Amino acid sequence: MDKDSQKTGPPAPDPSIMPTYSLATRAMHADDSLNSTSDVAPAMHLSTTFRYSHDPDKLIPIADDEILKEGSTIPQAHIYSRLSAPNTTRFETILSSLLHGHAITYSSGLSAFHALMVLLNPKCIAIGDGYHGVHGVLGIHKKLSGLKQADLHNPESWDAIGLGEGDVVHVETPLNPTGEAYNIQHYADLAHARGAYLTVDATFGPPGIQDPFAHGADFVMHAGTKYFGGHSDMLCGVLATRPDKDGWKQWVQLWQERLLLGSVMGSLEGWLGVRSIRTLELRVQRQSRSTTALVQWLSVSLVSTNGDASTVVTQAVVERLQHSSLQSGEWLIKQMPNGHGPVFALWMKSEKLARSLPSKLRLFHHATSLGGVESLIEWRRMSDDKVDPRVLRISIGVEDFEDLKADLLQAFEVLRAEQ
Ligand SMILES: Cc1ncc(COP(=O)(O)O)c(C=O)c1O
Repeated sequence: MDKDSQKTGPPAPDPSIMPTYSLATRAMHADDSLNSTSDVAPAMHLSTTFRYSHDPDKLIPIADDEILKEGSTIPQAHIYSRLSAPNTTRFETILSSLLHGHAITYSSGLSAFHALMVLLNPKCIAIGDGYHGVHGVLGIHKKLSGLKQADLHNPESWDAIGLGEGDVVHVETPLNPTGEAYNIQHYADLAHARGAYLTVDATFGPPGIQDPFAHGADFVMHAGTKYFGGHSDMLCGVLATRPDKDGWKQWVQLWQERLLLGSVMGSLEGWLGVRSIRTLELRVQRQSRSTTALVQWLSVSLVSTNGDASTVVTQAVVERLQHSSLQSGEWLIKQMPNGHGPVFALWMKSEKLARSLPSKLRLFHHATSLGGVESLIEWRRMSDDKVDPRVLRISIGVEDFEDLKADLLQAFEVLRAEQ
């Protein structure tokens, strides 16, 4: 059969008009031009190696600049899957559209962060709390290069270590595990005044919630394992560079270095990624709404004096909670105009209560990670030995809000009865 006759249906939208479509539409169609068959559901390509052209004049050696057209992140040909592969390229094409930059994937969020540090090779970095694994990666870079570290929230400490041209200010927002937000533009201004890059780990605030490039970020990172995967079944890391020419050059360097680091995401994950990202907006909107409503309910319960049974029971076991919806500020409304990330933290009245709450719940799995369709709760001490032992991290899934609320309440009741 002739190849074109297999490609039925409407032509792929002109890529130049793609940015005018909404996020939900781009998640569905940004990769249409990469359809090589008439399948509506993307085909799965697991090959690690790809046949070269049979036409000697069309052979493009791997090191040729021609393999990538200026400004494009779609290789002219696939050669070997450590360089590129069809499912992954499709996924990256959608991610570039959703992140408003040039996106590249990695085998995990941490390998993406490692690749970013390899690319920028800073002498100094300013960083706050946040995901402990990122600090572990920095430990490796300190060993390799003598990288110096300062406290993100104390710019005087940046100057004390000489943070300047080509160095890095790294902001994780919203923050793991509390879900509190930081002002990206504020840190971008401080970084740029010193000639440093602002890198943002936006894992907890996926597209639809926030766009760090719109607030001065130079690089955006995601643990794609979380909301992009969305179903707790794939590891993935994502970096995005700015959409301009310099950003494309940085992307090309990341692409060339990923070939050598070998930290490429598997082809199966690329396929899963495309399947999952189609519903990103639906999932995250619902997760965000439910989270904000739960946080609202809990925070009102903690200060209420109405004497309701639910208030009394909540006050008996819960000390406090944290989430960006409890913060205020014009910058926050600008940065997250459509809602908040779907993770928050709960401080119980004691370590014993924090250890016990997960076992009393029916709808929340007690497990690490976040961002999936299933609600998860984690007694955070299980994976982070530096965290307050009374802290639980809660990642809200797509279950019904009233069911989740009722489940939390019945668990509080059981804990209170046991006290
Ligand atoms: C904020 C943040 N960044 C990075 C990572 C690392 O991602 P991965 O587990 O895919 O390596 C995580 C993992 O939980 C995270 O929460």
